[in-house]
Amino acid sequence: MTINQVMVIGAGQMGAGIAQVFAQSGLNVKLNDLQQEALDKGLNGIEKRFNRAVEKGKMSEEEKQTALGHLSGTTNLKDASDCDLVIEAVVENMDIKTKVFKSLDEITPGHAILATNTSSLPITEIAAATERPSQVIGMHFMNPVPVMKLVEIIRAIQTSDETFQAIEDMAKKLNKSPVEVEDFPGFVSNRILMPMINEAIYTVHEGVASPEDVDTVMKLGMNHPMGPLTLADFIGLDTCLYIMEVLYEGFGDSKYRPCPLLRKYVKAGWLGKKSGRGFYSYE
Ligand code: CAA
Repeated sequence: MTINQVMVIGAGQMGAGIAQVFAQSGLNVKLNDLQQEALDKGLNGIEKRFNRAVEKGKMSEEEKQTALGHLSGTTNLKDASDCDLVIEAVVENMDIKTKVFKSLDEITPGHAILATNTSSLPITEIAAATERPSQVIGMHFMNPVPVMKLVEIIRAIQTSDETFQAIEDMAKKLNKSPVEVEDFPGFVSNRILMPMINEAIYTVHEGVASPEDVDTVMKLGMNHPMGPLTLADFIGLDTCLYIMEVLYEGFGDSKYRPCPLLRKYVKAGWLGKKSGRGFYSYE
């Protein structure tokens, strides 16, 4: 199938990053958010990143203008009526996501593929909320989206081979490396990453080492670009806790028990970089 027009729903960090890579790859993309303010923030962020790329000589002024020409913003979901592909990147809440998918099912043309960037919710359940479950799929980008090469493509039990193929081809067009994954809690990325982060938090909780030293061990000892606690702050501690809960509940195995210190930080509102404080201070 040919994908000419794309919409990304949610102009937050992930949604704006996804819209950026589509525009950069020469695809027409509409960025959508309910709030004009959030939409403007997302669009301005993309323009700023393009400006920086031009300053660094990684993009010409002409390439920037071309990419911006492929990008537009809207607060009206009905503008998805001419889209061949919609990628949802709204808050990780099943009720909200199913509402968005039900609306998209009514608005978009019958051939359109509906993808979700969820990092933890079951794609099979989201697909079941629509009348086109074979055209629903997970397209999980990593943060920061413009930099990270991976896209996990998650097949719901209902996803057709045609839908999978179209999304795999699209990921390659975006210059990403797709990996095919079945729909199980945490998929592959978060099933492996989050228990490591949780274990790093237990290590601090049990007084084995300081956050700085835990991060140094993983950076200098294992060549990770960021230590697990810096990464947890970067992802958001609320998101980390949420994904651990999904693993704990989904597998029913005590090895996924969220660390009490992680719960405490989230209760305190210490959510990491976005709140100014997590395992480190950002004020
Ligand atoms: N948005 C866009 N671009 C960014 C960025 C951001 N937030 N942060 C950094 N970059 C770009 C920089 O502009 C720079 O680009 P150029 O090379 O073109 O100049 C490049 O990334 C490298 O940046 P820096 O030199 O400033 O910093 P760095 O070398 O330390 O790299 C990093 C930064 C890429 C974020 C690196 O630290 C890293 O790879 N960290 C781990 C990230 C990671 O694990 N992400 C996955 C998170 S989990 C997830 O997303 C899934 C989930 O469901 C929770």
